[in-house]
Amino acid sequence: MSKGIIIAIDGPAAAGKSTIAKRIAQKLGYTYIDTGAMYRALTHKAIQSNINMGSDKDLADLLKHTEIVLVPEENGQAVWIDGVDCSEEIRSQEVTANVSEVAAHSTVRHLMVEKQRELAEGTGVVMDGRDIGTAVLPKAELKVFMTASVDERAERRFVENEKRGIHIPLAQLKEEIEKRDRADSERELSPLKMADDAILVDTTSMSIEEVANQVIMLAEKRMNQ
Ligand code: CDP
Ligand code: CDP
Repeated sequence: MSKGIIIAIDGPAAAGKSTIAKRIAQKLGYTYIDTGAMYRALTHKAIQSNINMGSDKDLADLLKHTEIVLVPEENGQAVWIDGVDCSEEIRSQEVTANVSEVAAHSTVRHLMVEKQRELAEGTGVVMDGRDIGTAVLPKAELKVFMTASVDERAERRFVENEKRGIHIPLAQLKEEIEKRDRADSERELSPLKMADDAILVDTTSMSIEEVANQVIMLAEKRMNQ
């Protein structure tokens, strides 16, 4: 039996990448790798350890001494840092506000990409992030660039937060998303951009079910080629 293909899903914040990636991985029996969670985990540890977010060297040293493990779970993935489940903590406002600065550093990115490639070896994989199709796994058989209007993405994050009992005004969420998209797209190293051979999926008026079905259809097409 074939080991499966590599599916790369990139796109801006709250486009639905991880929701869809999780579903597809579950359906195909593939490994799911949330690369954003890895950058969030390092950012969380840096905040806890009082590390200067402007220093590539300090962050890289911290990363070398930090164990970040993505643990598969029935409904997705837990994120453990040094043996402690930090899945909730890595989604905090403070982490979200600082993660793009942490992710812009060269040694940090180099170490992360090395780890992401190792995790993807020898198995069918669905990996989501910002630079998967362009830099981490450029030979991926299927590349999807997932997007949605910024109003729709802010609304989705708003609904998600409310469900978790977190109350942040919609306008603030929209502003934060725009700011992070700008930082991720304008940075020098592996900026967020659509790979030449990626397929654009605009999910603005699509349900989760519809997006998942479309990406699975694209994956099945690639598997049969
Ligand atoms: O889920 P959300 O869209 O809020 O973000 P995420 O996927 O958890 O990613 C958090 C941040 O990590 C992004 O805003 C990027 O700054 C960074 N990131 C990156 O630089 N490269 C990746 N492959 C994944 C995330
Ligand atoms: O990973 P990314 O930041 O791109 O987005 P996400 O965390 O997967 O999705 C953000 C929110 O949008 C989640 O609460 C999803 O349930 C929701 N969503 C949606 O309402 N409709 C879609 N087509 C995709 C996601």
